[in-house]
Formats: sequence, C-alpha cells, structure tokens
Amino acid sequence: MGNGLPGKIVFATGNKGKLREVEMILKDLGQQIVSMKEAGVETEIVEDGKTFEENALIKARAVHALCGGLVLADDSGLEIDYLNREPGVYSARYLGEDTPYEIKNGIILQKMADVGREARSARFVCVIGAVLPDGRELAAGASVEGSIAREAAGEGGFGYDPIFFVEEFGKTMAQLTPEEKNRISHRGKALREMKELLKKEAQAVSARGENPEKEPGNHNYEVNDR
Ligand code: IMP
Repeated sequence: MGNGLPGKIVFATGNKGKLREVEMILKDLGQQIVSMKEAGVETEIVEDGKTFEENALIKARAVHALCGGLVLADDSGLEIDYLNREPGVYSARYLGEDTPYEIKNGIILQKMADVGREARSARFVCVIGAVLPDGRELAAGASVEGSIAREAAGEGGFGYDPIFFVEEFGKTMAQLTPEEKNRISHRGKALREMKELLKKEAQAVSARGENPEKEPGNHNYEVNDR
C-alpha cells in the first residue's frame, strides 16, 4: 500500500507456470500477487469470448465480482498461420483440455511435417485485462513472432513452448531461461504495458488523496493495441 494501488493484486489464473512469470515481472510494483485460489475464489469461468481481449476481461470481471479489489487476468494463445491461426483463443482446449502437451505438440508437428520453413510462421499473443477496485477496466496486449520448430526441444516454460522457435535466440521458447522468456514473451510485454497503465492509475489515485483499496468512479474502458 502507500503507492496508490491496493496492497494485493489477484491474478485470475490456476496455471502455476503463468503465475511465476507474472510474479517475476510485476515484482517491482511492490504489490503482493496472489492466485484466485489464494484469494479464496473458486469458480468455473466460461471463456466464451471471440478474442483474447474479451476473454481476459471476462475472467477478470468474474473474479472481481467475487472478491473485489484489483484483479488481473490474461488470455493468451498460439496462432499458427498454416493452421488458419489456430489454436488461437482455443489454445488451452485444442486437441482436448486434458491432453498432455507432449501429445498436442507431437500432433501439431505431424500436421506440419511437410510444411516448408517460410510457411511455419506463428506467434504467441497475450492480452492482460484489469478490473480496478472501482470497477473500471483496462487492457494491454502484445505478441511475439516465431515459427513452429521441426521437433520439440527444451524443458522450460509450459504448453507449446517446446515447439515455438525464437529466431533471435536460435532456440525454442522452452530452451530459454525464465528471464530470457520474460524479456521477449507476449505475456512479459503485455504485463509491462499493464504495469505502466497501473502506475498511471496509482499516481492519479494518490494525487486525488483517495484510498486505493476502494475508489468510487464510473466504468471506463481503455485499450492499448498490440
Ligand atoms: P489461457 O489460460 O486461457 O490464456 O490459455 C492459454 C493457453 O495458450 C495455454 O494453456 C497454452 O496452451 C497456450 N499458451 C499461452 N501462453 C503460452 C506460453 O507462454 N507458452 C506456451 N503456451 C502458451
């Protein structure tokens, strides 16, 4: 507290890999980052939005309705150009929600076995949605370009990281250190963007001498395009 933001930020995810990345990136805000579970929220959220942004805000709103305060949520996924930008917003559910990623990644590699280098382009996309204590909403999005590797490699990260090749490093996302991934990743970039939006909010709250834990106001909407 004391910097114009609530002492605690709830991040609406059950994914431990994501939470670790978020904690690293938002560390310097000085706020405690807690998961939905740690905030005592257990709910099934139907992510029926058509875009990453819609889904991020659906999640943030659903959790904010249950615990209030400052809630962040992300929606992210992999777009593979050769597969008409699939799996996109369906990335988590693609080929079955409970199917292990070694199998999902293997199927994608198989589908693309005969696809040449120039047609293997892909990107990870992430939008961070925020609901502020007073209910106003913010969103920030970013992407990272890459290509689908010929074979899976690396043990780091999660999800589709082992098959996502990052030209700059000549490695897959799963072969990068957590610091390297956070520096270039869709989530890292979107979170840093969101961090700047939150700092601006915090300054405005402090300047008005208001209590950051509860701030009256109207619903506004601000979107930063990726
Ligand atoms: P969400 O939890 O609804 O945002 O689903 C995101 C899904 O996209 C994850 O379950 C992964 O399948 C994929 N995804 C998103 N970000 C990453 C990443 O950084 N690495 C690997 N896979 C990712």
